[in-house]
Parts: sequence; C-alpha cells; structure tokens
Amino acid sequence: MNQNDLNGSPPARRKPVRSAASRERSRTLKLLLLIALVLALWALAIVGIVNLLKKDRTPQPVPAEVTTAAATPDETLPPEDTAPSTSAPDKNGLLFETKEVSASGIYRGDLILVNRDHAYRFEENRETKIISLYTFWREWPAYSYKLQSSELQLADFICTRMSEMFDAFLAETGDNSYLITSGWRSYEEQVETVAEMIAKYGSEEEAMKYTAPPGYSEHHTGMAFDTYIFVKDGDKTATYKPGAADMPPLYNWIYENCARFGFIKRYDEEKSGITGYSGESWHFRYVGKPHAALIAEKNFCLEEYLDFLREYTYRNYLEYTDPEGAKYAIYYEKVENETVVTPAVTDAAGTEVAPPVIGDRFPDRVALRLPQGVPCEISGDNVSGFIITVKLS
Ligand code: DAL
Ligand code: ZN
Repeated sequence: MNQNDLNGSPPARRKPVRSAASRERSRTLKLLLLIALVLALWALAIVGIVNLLKKDRTPQPVPAEVTTAAATPDETLPPEDTAPSTSAPDKNGLLFETKEVSASGIYRGDLILVNRDHAYRFEENRETKIISLYTFWREWPAYSYKLQSSELQLADFICTRMSEMFDAFLAETGDNSYLITSGWRSYEEQVETVAEMIAKYGSEEEAMKYTAPPGYSEHHTGMAFDTYIFVKDGDKTATYKPGAADMPPLYNWIYENCARFGFIKRYDEEKSGITGYSGESWHFRYVGKPHAALIAEKNFCLEEYLDFLREYTYRNYLEYTDPEGAKYAIYYEKVENETVVTPAVTDAAGTEVAPPVIGDRFPDRVALRLPQGVPCEISGDNVSGFIITVKLS
C-alpha cells in the first residue's frame, strides 16, 4: 500500500512495471548522455582556449630592432610610428616597414662624410663620448701600441676598436711599435693645427693642401687617428712614417688588416682629386664592418663609396659577403628636402622691406624603410640621407 492509499486519495495511475534489466539500461543510457554532455562542454571550452592562444600567437608586426652606430645613441625609434608592410618577405626573409626618425640623424654615424665640402656637425653629435685615450690605454689589458701624448682623446668605441686592432697586431707579430700621434680634435685645436701647418709650410695655400679648415676635419668626429711607427731596440730608437720607403715591411700590416676592424686608410694620393687632400698614409678612419672591407675591395675612397651606395634602395639592396663570411644587405634612404618660405618683412606702413625667402631644408622627422624585426644599423652620410646596414647571416 502506498501513501496515497493511506490518505484516501484516488489511487495513482500505476506506472508500468519495468524489469530490473530495463531500469539498469535506462540508468546506463542517462549516465552515458551525461558523460557525453560533459565531454562536449569540455571540448567547447578547449577549442575556445586554443583559439584564444592562437590569436595571441598570430605573428604581429614586430617593430624593427634598431642597433644604432655608437655615434648615434639617440636614434631609437618610437614603435607607434611603425607602419607594417603588406608585401611578403623577400628572398632573404626581409620585410620592410616605415619608421620615423629624427632627420638630424643624417649628421651622425660611422659613415658620415666630413671633408672640405661637408662640415662636421658638433651640435648634432654632442652626445658622442670623447674620452681620454691615455686613461683607456692604461686600463686596456695589452700595451699593444704607444701614445705620443697623454692628452690624446678618441670616441669611446673607437678606443676599443683601435685597441682590438693593435692587440691583433701584437698577437700576430709580437710587436707593439705603432705610435698614435693624433686623435680627436676640437674646433679650437684644428685652428691651432692650421696655424702650425702654415708655420711649417710657409703659406696658407700650401698648408691647406694637407690640413682641413676648422670644422671640416675628420678628427672632430673622434673616429679618426694618425699613427706613426716608433721602434725602440735597447738604447736605439727609430721613427718611421707609415708607407715610407725606409719603413720595415712588417708595418704594412695595418694596411692589410685595418678593414678587419672597421678602419680604412682615408687619404690615398691617387684619390686626392676626390678627397681634396694629398695622400696621408698615417690617417685612419673608422667606418665599421662591412664597409671597410667593401671600400678596400673596390679600392674606393669614402666619397666614391657613398656615391656607390646611393644607387641602392631597400627594394634593390646591395648584398655583400665580407671576407669573414658574414652576409649583409646595405641600402640608402635619401631624405627629400622640404621647401620653406620665410615671409616678406614689411615696415609699419606695410611697405615690403625684405622680399620673401624661399629655401630648402630637411624636415624634422623622416620615414625610413627598415627591415621588420631584424636588427640593423643606421648611419647618416652627413649629406642627404641614411645608410642602412642589415646583417643577414
Ligand atoms: N689632415 C687631415 C685632412 C685633417 O686635418 O683633418
Ligand atoms: Zn689625421
């Protein structure tokens, strides 16, 4: 008897009596349906999570990592100016994007041209660290070269590059007779240098064949040094001018090896019509690897080399494998001038006292095409644009 019977209520409609096996099957079915439902929910959740993760991993435009030359420490580019390229990577895997930089970077970097026509821009290079070469030399592990004066100075990174070069010379030959005779010069020091040269050569005209006017010397950059050779054997000493007929052949080493360390012999007699100076076998200038190797290979002076590079664009860059097997892409980004109109000057009565002046100047900011997500070096040429150097392998 069930509860309904006790309460006097009409008897409930009796459910059909099912067998124990049937009830068992039904329970199993329900359990299976429940498991299937739980599994389906899990699957949905997993698919959702995977999609979310996938979304995060979708390659995003990576702002180009810009390794600036030591002479351009403030050339880091703001990522918000990045405009990703839509084309596919080229055969070297490079994809280019545009990034804005300060146009004043034209005046900074390893490849700036400083000659009679192009002054060194002190103001734009005020962050270059010029340091005491003497202090650096005393702290450097090997005395692989000599200094003529404790007053010598160079850009900090040039102290390192130059010392590495002479360390290699010492390691390969056991000799340490290169003598640094000149390094960084201020504007005022170049004024003094010119005066000394006039005294030496007897006339300004003659002196200026060998020395740069103040403001136009590569020595202002801190990336150039002069070297002689000072050999001390017991009490006997001898000084040689590099490349002179009496110089022991051992010291041709610097011409044969300077490019390995990013240096060039800057003034060749045969290029004097282009450089504006007669040969200076003692004057070396840092331009960085691989440029030094390429300049030596092509027998270019720096003026010729920059003209040569100006033919290469990011679409048609120069591919160069240096003697050590490192592969580079090198190209030029020209900066277009903008026209600036200075309005006419008028007096109180409105009469024009000076006409409007129309001139050209570089814009403050310029957009460069740079490889996406690949480190590159940017150097100004001190004339009209930037050289981009990308190490491919
Ligand atoms: N002697 C080189 C040209 C200079 O004065 O910078
Ligand atoms: Zn010099």
